[in-house]
Amino acid sequence: MTAAVDVRARLVDRLEASGVLTPGWRQAFLDVGRHEFLPDVFWASTGDGYERCDRARSPERWLELAYSDVAIVTQWDDGTSSGQQREPTSSVSMPTMVASMLRDLDVHEGHKVWEGGTGPGWNAGLLARRQGAHNVVTVELDAVVAAQAAANFRALDIAPTAVVGDAAHGYLPGAPYDRGILTCSVRHVPPALIGQIRRHGVLVLPFAPLFGGGAVARLTVTGTTVTGTTATGPFTGSSAFMRMRQQRYQAPPVDDYLPGDWPGDAVREYTTLNPLNVVDDWLASFVVGLAVPDLYYRRSNNGGSGMTTLWLFDTGVTSWATVDFVDGASRFEVRQSGSRRMWSEVEDTVRWWTAAGRPGFERFGLTLEGGEHRAWLHQPANPLPSPRGQD
Ligand SMILES: C[S@@+](CC[C@H](N)C(=O)[O-])C[C@H]1O[C@@H](n2cnc3c(N)ncnc32)[C@H](O)[C@@H]1O
Repeated sequence: MTAAVDVRARLVDRLEASGVLTPGWRQAFLDVGRHEFLPDVFWASTGDGYERCDRARSPERWLELAYSDVAIVTQWDDGTSSGQQREPTSSVSMPTMVASMLRDLDVHEGHKVWEGGTGPGWNAGLLARRQGAHNVVTVELDAVVAAQAAANFRALDIAPTAVVGDAAHGYLPGAPYDRGILTCSVRHVPPALIGQIRRHGVLVLPFAPLFGGGAVARLTVTGTTVTGTTATGPFTGSSAFMRMRQQRYQAPPVDDYLPGDWPGDAVREYTTLNPLNVVDDWLASFVVGLAVPDLYYRRSNNGGSGMTTLWLFDTGVTSWATVDFVDGASRFEVRQSGSRRMWSEVEDTVRWWTAAGRPGFERFGLTLEGGEHRAWLHQPANPLPSPRGQD
């Protein structure tokens, strides 16, 4: 298929020119066609929505999208969707993201690699091409997705160890690994993942706090203590991945926080910090989520009244807050209730981050020790401050 070879070469050149594709990966990207992992009908993520593409009707557009720098959704709603599509639940990731995570992985010849979240299998195919299939294990939870990946591998005569299972458990029979790469996001790194990687080995994963935002973490396994394996490393850049299925959050009903009518016993205050500037900013949300990992929010437009209310909750169901945004206002009404001050925690974090010069994703990092996550700025010895209202 000459057309595919040509568009693929152009994509590879673009990835190389942008610096994300390192020389060691070039041949694998040329050899392992992305389109070989795509179904006849898919949805390309075009930034402001999804473009449905049917190969039978638009073969040229299908191929063009296959080699565009966009994520391509291949499953919605865990495969249960019947036209009412809401959540993308499996995809072939964006080429820039695949290349940059593989760059972060820093594989060397003979390295054994574990991947969590096979999806249709492109990334595992690339790894198998470079490392040799016998050095690659890939784990997918969804049996239908895994069967499709297995068929894709067979058609291309690539044979990584493809396991149907929960990536949160790693894959012990293949451990220890030199490298691990997770392609669904987590807000807690499952201990098995670092536990199955050799000392000085690397785990690359998309980390997405509950509050919002996301970034790729590159963790180096530093050792083992009585409380388990330890790992630390920086974030390498922004990311937006679908969540590991078990780490989706099912929020309790608002009544569990506020049994009576709003505002209950909440204290009223005002803030000059625009709440929407926090939640609509991927980096600001990420920083808040790192500093306050048990915080989440909901947004309500109050039936189109012109006012947007940001509701903030803790997962421990002890506290809530609301902040009312009105266009053009210079201060916003805040209500806070419970043992914590959820908005104050957000505001303190944003003001601390702003005072620090609004450092970017790459300035932050994560240390895992004794089952705990500790986020830091600039270096592991500099943990994020605890906002007011937290013990
Ligand atoms: C973004 S897609 C993977 C992209 C893929 N690696 C590629 O080559 O482009 C994320 C995948 O993670 C899978 N997934 C989610 N939770 C999982 C879990 N607990 N264990 C294994 N796979 C999981 C989803 O079913 C989905 O197929």
